[in-house]
Amino acid sequence: MRSFKGRDILSLKDFEREEFFYMFEVAKSLEHYARDRHNGDLLKDKTMVTAFYQPSTRTRLAHEAAMHRLGGHVTGFADAKMTRAGDWYQESIKDTVHMLEYYGDVIVMRHFQQGAPAEAARWASIPVVNAGDGWGEHPTQVLTDLYTIWKEIGHIDGLTFLCIGDMRMRTMHSISYALTQFDVEVIYVSPPDMSLTEEFKAELDERNLVYEEAEHVADVIHRADVIYMEPVVQPDYTKARQEATEDRGLTPDNYKITRQLLAEKAKGSAIILHSLPRMDELPPDVDFTRHARYWQEAFNGVALRMGMLALILGAID
Ligand code: CP
Repeated sequence: MRSFKGRDILSLKDFEREEFFYMFEVAKSLEHYARDRHNGDLLKDKTMVTAFYQPSTRTRLAHEAAMHRLGGHVTGFADAKMTRAGDWYQESIKDTVHMLEYYGDVIVMRHFQQGAPAEAARWASIPVVNAGDGWGEHPTQVLTDLYTIWKEIGHIDGLTFLCIGDMRMRTMHSISYALTQFDVEVIYVSPPDMSLTEEFKAELDERNLVYEEAEHVADVIHRADVIYMEPVVQPDYTKARQEATEDRGLTPDNYKITRQLLAEKAKGSAIILHSLPRMDELPPDVDFTRHARYWQEAFNGVALRMGMLALILGAID
Protein backbone atom coordinates (compact mmCIF):
# COMPACT_ATOMS: atom_id res chain seq x y z
CA MET A 1 0.00 0.00 0.00
CA ARG A 2 1.19 3.53 -0.76
CA SER A 3 2.17 5.71 2.19
CA PHE A 4 -0.21 8.56 3.04
CA LYS A 5 2.63 10.72 4.36
CA GLY A 6 2.73 14.02 2.48
CA ARG A 7 -0.15 13.07 0.19
CA ASP A 8 -2.81 15.47 -1.08
CA ILE A 9 -6.40 14.31 -0.57
CA LEU A 10 -8.05 15.82 -3.63
CA SER A 11 -10.27 13.05 -5.01
CA LEU A 12 -11.42 9.52 -4.24
CA LYS A 13 -10.82 8.58 -7.87
CA ASP A 14 -7.31 7.44 -7.07
CA PHE A 15 -7.99 5.80 -3.69
CA GLU A 16 -7.23 2.10 -3.56
CA ARG A 17 -9.41 -0.38 -1.72
CA GLU A 18 -6.98 -1.18 1.08
CA GLU A 19 -6.30 2.53 1.63
CA PHE A 20 -9.92 3.05 2.69
CA PHE A 21 -9.71 0.25 5.26
CA TYR A 22 -6.33 1.39 6.56
CA MET A 23 -7.60 4.94 7.11
CA PHE A 24 -10.70 3.55 8.88
CA GLU A 25 -8.52 1.45 11.21
CA VAL A 26 -6.36 4.48 12.08
CA ALA A 27 -9.45 6.65 12.65
CA LYS A 28 -10.92 3.98 14.93
CA SER A 29 -7.69 3.81 16.96
CA LEU A 30 -7.88 7.58 17.58
CA GLU A 31 -11.62 7.79 18.13
CA HIS A 32 -11.26 7.60 21.91
CA TYR A 33 -10.02 11.21 21.99
CA ALA A 34 -13.37 12.40 20.62
CA ARG A 35 -15.46 9.90 22.59
CA ASP A 36 -13.77 10.70 25.93
CA ARG A 37 -13.58 14.42 25.11
CA HIS A 38 -9.89 14.81 25.81
CA ASN A 39 -6.95 16.02 23.76
CA GLY A 40 -3.72 14.16 23.04
CA ASP A 41 -0.39 15.36 21.66
CA LEU A 42 0.14 13.32 18.49
CA LEU A 43 0.13 16.46 16.29
CA LYS A 44 1.50 18.92 18.84
CA ASP A 45 4.18 20.10 16.40
CA LYS A 46 1.81 20.54 13.47
CA THR A 47 -0.43 23.35 12.25
CA MET A 48 -3.39 23.10 9.89
CA VAL A 49 -4.34 26.07 7.68
CA THR A 50 -7.99 26.29 6.65
CA ALA A 51 -8.80 28.22 3.47
CA PHE A 52 -12.59 28.29 3.05
CA TYR A 53 -13.88 30.28 0.09
CA GLN A 54 -17.41 28.92 0.57
CA PRO A 55 -19.56 28.53 3.71
CA SER A 56 -19.24 25.42 5.89
CA THR A 57 -20.38 24.26 9.30
CA ARG A 58 -19.34 20.62 9.49
CA THR A 59 -16.33 20.22 7.26
CA ARG A 60 -14.24 23.09 8.57
CA LEU A 61 -15.11 22.58 12.21
CA ALA A 62 -14.65 18.80 12.08
CA HIS A 63 -11.15 19.29 10.65
CA GLU A 64 -10.41 21.89 13.31
CA ALA A 65 -11.81 19.71 16.10
CA ALA A 66 -9.73 16.78 14.84
CA MET A 67 -6.59 18.91 14.92
CA HIS A 68 -7.34 20.17 18.43
CA ARG A 69 -8.09 16.63 19.67
CA LEU A 70 -4.62 15.56 18.55
CA GLY A 71 -2.94 18.56 20.19
CA GLY A 72 -2.29 20.37 16.91
CA HIS A 73 -2.73 24.01 15.99
CA VAL A 74 -5.16 25.72 13.64
CA THR A 75 -5.07 28.96 11.68
CA GLY A 76 -6.79 30.15 8.52
CA PHE A 77 -9.87 31.89 7.18
CA ALA A 78 -13.52 30.97 6.94
CA ASP A 79 -14.57 33.93 4.81
CA ALA A 80 -12.45 34.75 1.79
CA LYS A 81 -14.13 38.20 1.59
CA MET A 82 -11.87 39.23 4.47
CA THR A 83 -8.73 38.19 2.59
CA ARG A 84 -7.02 39.64 -0.49
CA ALA A 85 -8.44 36.75 -2.51
CA GLY A 86 -11.93 38.04 -1.88
CA ASP A 87 -11.49 41.82 -2.08
CA TRP A 88 -10.43 44.24 -4.79
CA TYR A 89 -7.17 42.36 -5.45
CA GLN A 90 -8.77 38.96 -6.20
CA GLU A 91 -5.40 37.40 -5.30
CA SER A 92 -4.77 34.19 -7.24
CA ILE A 93 -4.77 30.72 -5.74
CA LYS A 94 -1.10 30.38 -6.66
CA ASP A 95 -0.05 33.53 -4.76
CA THR A 96 -2.34 32.77 -1.83
CA VAL A 97 -1.02 29.24 -1.46
CA HIS A 98 2.60 30.46 -1.65
CA MET A 99 1.76 32.38 1.52
CA LEU A 100 -0.27 29.72 3.30
CA GLU A 101 2.41 27.05 2.92
CA TYR A 102 4.63 29.02 5.31
CA TYR A 103 1.90 29.29 7.95
CA GLY A 104 1.36 25.58 8.54
CA ASP A 105 1.91 21.96 7.57
CA VAL A 106 -1.33 21.10 5.75
CA ILE A 107 -3.92 23.22 3.91
CA VAL A 108 -7.60 22.30 4.00
CA MET A 109 -9.39 24.15 1.19
CA ARG A 110 -13.03 24.56 0.19
CA HIS A 111 -13.66 26.51 -3.00
CA PHE A 112 -16.54 27.31 -5.32
CA GLN A 113 -14.38 26.57 -8.38
CA GLN A 114 -14.05 22.93 -9.33
CA GLY A 115 -10.36 22.01 -9.37
CA ALA A 116 -9.22 24.88 -7.12
CA PRO A 117 -7.72 22.57 -4.43
CA ALA A 118 -5.89 20.65 -7.18
CA GLU A 119 -4.55 23.96 -8.47
CA ALA A 120 -3.45 24.80 -4.91
CA ALA A 121 -1.71 21.43 -4.64
CA ARG A 122 0.31 22.26 -7.78
CA TRP A 123 1.89 25.20 -5.98
CA ALA A 124 1.98 24.11 -2.33
CA SER A 125 4.93 22.26 -0.87
CA ILE A 126 2.66 20.87 1.87
CA PRO A 127 -0.35 18.52 1.53
CA VAL A 128 -3.67 19.98 0.38
CA VAL A 129 -7.03 18.49 1.41
CA ASN A 130 -10.06 19.14 -0.78
CA ALA A 131 -12.90 20.13 1.56
CA GLY A 132 -15.35 20.45 -1.37
CA ASP A 133 -14.75 22.14 -4.75
CA GLY A 134 -17.74 23.46 -6.70
CA TRP A 135 -19.66 20.52 -8.15
CA GLY A 136 -16.40 18.53 -8.19
CA GLU A 137 -15.69 16.28 -5.20
CA HIS A 138 -15.92 16.12 -1.42
CA PRO A 139 -13.55 13.31 -0.48
CA THR A 140 -13.40 13.77 3.31
CA GLN A 141 -17.21 13.76 3.58
CA VAL A 142 -17.41 10.48 1.69
CA LEU A 143 -14.55 8.97 3.71
CA THR A 144 -16.67 9.85 6.75
CA ASP A 145 -19.76 8.25 5.15
CA LEU A 146 -17.94 5.02 4.33
CA TYR A 147 -16.31 4.95 7.77
CA THR A 148 -19.81 5.21 9.25
CA ILE A 149 -21.06 2.28 7.13
CA TRP A 150 -17.98 0.21 8.01
CA LYS A 151 -18.61 0.83 11.71
CA GLU A 152 -22.39 0.43 11.63
CA ILE A 153 -22.73 -2.55 9.27
CA GLY A 154 -19.23 -4.04 9.52
CA HIS A 155 -18.59 -4.27 5.78
CA ILE A 156 -19.15 -2.45 2.48
CA ASP A 157 -18.99 -5.31 -0.03
CA GLY A 158 -22.35 -6.87 -0.78
CA LEU A 159 -24.42 -3.75 -0.03
CA THR A 160 -26.96 -2.02 -2.24
CA PHE A 161 -26.77 1.77 -2.18
CA LEU A 162 -29.72 4.00 -3.01
CA CYS A 163 -28.31 7.44 -3.90
CA ILE A 164 -31.02 10.11 -3.98
CA GLY A 165 -30.67 13.77 -4.92
CA ASP A 166 -28.76 16.03 -7.26
CA MET A 167 -26.19 13.93 -9.11
CA ARG A 168 -24.18 17.05 -9.99
CA MET A 169 -23.36 17.20 -6.29
CA ARG A 170 -19.74 16.75 -5.23
CA THR A 171 -20.57 14.06 -2.66
CA MET A 172 -22.31 12.02 -5.38
CA HIS A 173 -19.16 12.14 -7.50
CA SER A 174 -16.88 11.13 -4.62
CA ILE A 175 -19.11 8.31 -3.40
CA SER A 176 -19.46 6.93 -6.92
CA TYR A 177 -15.70 6.90 -7.44
CA ALA A 178 -15.19 5.33 -3.99
CA LEU A 179 -17.78 2.59 -4.56
CA THR A 180 -15.96 1.40 -7.68
CA GLN A 181 -13.49 -0.15 -5.22
CA PHE A 182 -16.17 -2.33 -3.60
CA ASP A 183 -18.50 -5.14 -4.64
CA VAL A 184 -21.73 -3.13 -4.45
CA GLU A 185 -24.78 -2.14 -6.50
CA VAL A 186 -25.87 1.48 -6.77
CA ILE A 187 -29.32 2.81 -7.66
CA TYR A 188 -29.44 6.52 -8.51
CA VAL A 189 -32.68 8.52 -8.20
CA SER A 190 -32.63 12.17 -9.28
CA PRO A 191 -34.69 14.76 -11.14
CA PRO A 192 -34.00 14.49 -14.89
CA ASP A 193 -32.20 17.84 -14.98
CA MET A 194 -29.92 16.71 -12.13
CA SER A 195 -29.17 13.21 -13.36
CA LEU A 196 -25.77 11.58 -13.97
CA THR A 197 -24.10 13.10 -17.00
CA GLU A 198 -23.18 10.86 -19.93
CA GLU A 199 -19.54 11.75 -19.35
CA PHE A 200 -19.69 10.67 -15.70
CA LYS A 201 -21.56 7.46 -16.59
CA ALA A 202 -18.81 6.64 -19.08
CA GLU A 203 -16.27 7.02 -16.25
CA LEU A 204 -18.31 4.73 -13.98
CA ASP A 205 -18.59 2.18 -16.80
CA GLU A 206 -14.85 2.28 -17.32
CA ARG A 207 -14.40 1.57 -13.62
CA ASN A 208 -16.91 -1.35 -13.68
CA LEU A 209 -19.41 0.11 -11.22
CA VAL A 210 -22.70 -1.84 -11.23
CA TYR A 211 -25.45 0.79 -11.25
CA GLU A 212 -28.87 1.68 -12.56
CA GLU A 213 -31.14 4.72 -12.55
CA ALA A 214 -34.72 4.78 -11.25
CA GLU A 215 -37.44 7.43 -11.27
CA HIS A 216 -39.02 7.14 -7.83
CA VAL A 217 -37.55 6.16 -4.44
CA ALA A 218 -40.75 4.22 -3.63
CA ASP A 219 -40.02 1.78 -6.48
CA VAL A 220 -36.55 0.79 -5.26
CA ILE A 221 -36.20 1.58 -1.55
CA HIS A 222 -36.98 -2.04 -0.59
CA ARG A 223 -33.62 -3.08 -2.11
CA ALA A 224 -31.47 -0.55 -0.25
CA ASP A 225 -29.04 -1.32 2.57
CA VAL A 226 -27.72 2.24 2.56
CA ILE A 227 -29.88 5.23 1.66
CA TYR A 228 -27.51 8.04 0.70
CA MET A 229 -29.19 11.43 0.40
CA GLU A 230 -28.57 14.96 -0.82
CA PRO A 231 -31.11 17.76 -1.33
CA VAL A 232 -32.52 18.53 -4.76
CA VAL A 233 -33.44 21.98 -3.44
CA GLN A 234 -30.08 23.60 -2.91
CA PRO A 235 -27.83 26.53 -3.84
CA ASP A 236 -25.53 26.82 -6.82
CA TYR A 237 -22.27 25.26 -5.66
CA THR A 238 -20.28 27.23 -8.23
CA LYS A 239 -21.01 30.45 -6.30
CA ALA A 240 -19.04 31.66 -3.29
CA ARG A 241 -22.28 32.26 -1.42
CA GLN A 242 -26.01 32.42 -2.06
CA GLU A 243 -28.56 34.02 0.24
CA ALA A 244 -31.86 32.23 0.92
CA THR A 245 -34.79 33.38 -1.18
CA GLU A 246 -38.31 33.47 0.20
CA ASP A 247 -39.50 30.64 -2.05
CA ARG A 248 -36.79 28.03 -2.26
CA GLY A 249 -39.24 25.38 -3.50
CA LEU A 250 -40.27 22.00 -2.14
CA THR A 251 -38.86 18.55 -2.82
CA PRO A 252 -41.11 16.30 -4.94
CA ASP A 253 -42.07 12.97 -3.30
CA ASN A 254 -39.83 11.05 -5.73
CA TYR A 255 -36.76 12.31 -3.88
CA LYS A 256 -37.98 12.33 -0.26
CA ILE A 257 -37.54 9.79 2.54
CA THR A 258 -40.36 9.85 5.07
CA ARG A 259 -41.17 7.77 8.15
CA GLN A 260 -44.16 6.32 6.34
CA LEU A 261 -42.11 5.23 3.34
CA LEU A 262 -39.50 3.67 5.62
CA ALA A 263 -42.16 1.82 7.65
CA GLU A 264 -43.97 0.52 4.56
CA LYS A 265 -41.16 -0.31 2.15
CA ALA A 266 -37.60 -0.15 3.54
CA LYS A 267 -35.56 -3.03 4.92
CA GLY A 268 -35.62 -2.94 8.71
CA SER A 269 -31.82 -2.85 8.66
CA ALA A 270 -31.44 -0.04 6.10
CA ILE A 271 -29.45 2.98 7.28
CA ILE A 272 -29.76 6.58 6.10
CA LEU A 273 -26.75 8.82 5.55
CA HIS A 274 -27.02 12.51 4.69
CA SER A 275 -24.04 14.85 4.57
CA LEU A 276 -26.29 17.76 5.74
CA PRO A 277 -27.48 20.47 5.74
CA ARG A 278 -30.91 19.16 4.73
CA MET A 279 -34.04 20.67 3.32
CA ASP A 280 -37.48 18.98 3.30
CA GLU A 281 -36.22 15.79 1.59
CA LEU A 282 -35.52 14.31 5.03
CA PRO A 283 -38.16 15.41 7.57
CA PRO A 284 -36.90 15.75 11.17
CA ASP A 285 -39.21 12.97 12.44
CA VAL A 286 -37.01 10.47 10.56
CA ASP A 287 -34.31 11.33 13.13
CA PHE A 288 -36.16 9.20 15.67
CA THR A 289 -36.24 6.06 13.54
CA ARG A 290 -33.68 3.27 13.80
CA HIS A 291 -32.60 4.06 10.24
CA ALA A 292 -31.01 7.46 10.94
CA ARG A 293 -27.21 7.52 11.09
CA TYR A 294 -26.46 11.13 10.10
CA TRP A 295 -25.77 12.32 13.63
CA GLN A 296 -23.30 9.47 14.12
CA GLU A 297 -21.68 10.79 10.94
CA ALA A 298 -21.02 14.08 12.73
CA PHE A 299 -19.04 12.28 15.44
CA ASN A 300 -17.35 9.99 12.92
CA GLY A 301 -16.37 13.05 10.88
CA VAL A 302 -14.01 14.15 13.65
CA ALA A 303 -12.50 10.67 14.09
CA LEU A 304 -12.02 10.19 10.35
CA ARG A 305 -10.29 13.57 10.01
CA MET A 306 -8.04 12.71 12.99
CA GLY A 307 -6.99 9.55 11.19
CA MET A 308 -6.48 11.28 7.86
CA LEU A 309 -4.49 14.19 9.32
CA ALA A 310 -2.31 11.84 11.43
CA LEU A 311 -1.53 9.85 8.28
CA ILE A 312 -0.81 12.66 5.84
CA LEU A 313 1.21 14.56 8.44
CA GLY A 314 3.28 11.44 9.06
CA ALA A 315 2.44 11.00 12.76
CA ILE A 316 1.24 7.48 11.97
CA ASP A 317 2.83 5.52 9.15
N1 CP B 1 -21.39 18.08 4.84
C1 CP B 1 -20.88 19.31 4.59
O1 CP B 1 -20.05 19.49 3.69
O2 CP B 1 -21.37 20.26 5.42
P1 CP B 1 -20.81 21.75 5.50
O3 CP B 1 -21.18 22.43 4.20
O4 CP B 1 -21.51 22.34 6.69
O5 CP B 1 -19.33 21.67 5.67
